[in-house]
Amino acid sequence: MNDFPASLNPVLYTEKGYDKLNAFLKKNDPSKIFVLVDSNTHSNCLSQFLQKLETSITTEVIEIESGEEFKNLQTCEGVWNVLSELEADRKSLMINLGGGVVTDLGGFVASTFKRGISFINVPTSLLAMVDASVGGKTGVDLGNLKNQIGIIIQPEMVLIDSSFLGTLPANEMRSGLAEILKHGLIASEEYWRKVTNLADLDLSDLDDIIKESVDIKARIVKKDPKEKNIRKTLNYGHTLGHAIESYCLTHPDRNKLLHGEAIAAGMILETFISHKLQDFPENKLQQINGLIKDMYGKESFSADDISEIKNLMKFDKKNERGNINFVLLKDIGAPVVDITVPDTVIDKAFEFYLNN
Ligand code: GLY
Repeated sequence: MNDFPASLNPVLYTEKGYDKLNAFLKKNDPSKIFVLVDSNTHSNCLSQFLQKLETSITTEVIEIESGEEFKNLQTCEGVWNVLSELEADRKSLMINLGGGVVTDLGGFVASTFKRGISFINVPTSLLAMVDASVGGKTGVDLGNLKNQIGIIIQPEMVLIDSSFLGTLPANEMRSGLAEILKHGLIASEEYWRKVTNLADLDLSDLDDIIKESVDIKARIVKKDPKEKNIRKTLNYGHTLGHAIESYCLTHPDRNKLLHGEAIAAGMILETFISHKLQDFPENKLQQINGLIKDMYGKESFSADDISEIKNLMKFDKKNERGNINFVLLKDIGAPVVDITVPDTVIDKAFEFYLNN
């Protein structure tokens, strides 16, 4: 099974995906299967998923609470304890059935339990389908700081079944859409135009869009699985976006933002910075600002909020030797990495965000 491959394992879709999963179970014959769910995917996805499994291997279900606030080491400890009580061994298989919290946390728990058991991701949210479940990033938050603890290790496979999206709330769909928009901005103007032209899209286009986004991400991860260079481009909008998300998580007076909602604001801010420092075209900046705000609205940030958000960027994982490293764009589809940004330009970006 998983021998810490550097590159990407297959991402499979719907019926073919279930066939491959069942063939995988037959071939590898795990000692037990552990399906990790949260309270939402337990109610909405588990029975549909279990019906597709063709195996007589003992299958246990482990449930965690749903929500980013449970993506921490305490939850991991709970899952490790259950694995231990249920006598999971090195030949056991974990299947993470859920959104980004379940796939990130489940991958981390699996790859550290008894120094590593195999795992498969079955994402059930749009965000997890197009981003979190693919590429092998696993981990949990440390306090309010996002994804500080974790490792990069590839799942045995990712199985995407978009029929799970039928029960996903609209705000969760919007959150996933932000990562799709990001893929357009960093990789392809044609894809950006397609996914922002929502009037021309309907639900039947969703499978193609998911696949195109996964292909963009997979191409990048294959070139740089450990995020030494080009994979950093997948963090576009995330330097400020993660800081905004962390800030909102810990300030109960603020609307809690879903990951993609915070990244949407981060992408406007970082596109403004790209305009100032990398000559990103002004007309496209205005277009991106308008389109993203039409979809996500505008958050309000006071001077104190901005100063705390800037402080939180110190914990961004791309930072090196105390420098905050941004991904910026020279144009749509033309990213550059490891750019430091003067504080004054960040302030100007917030001014632009708030006043336009
Ligand atoms: N979410 C960005 C990455 O997987 O690299």
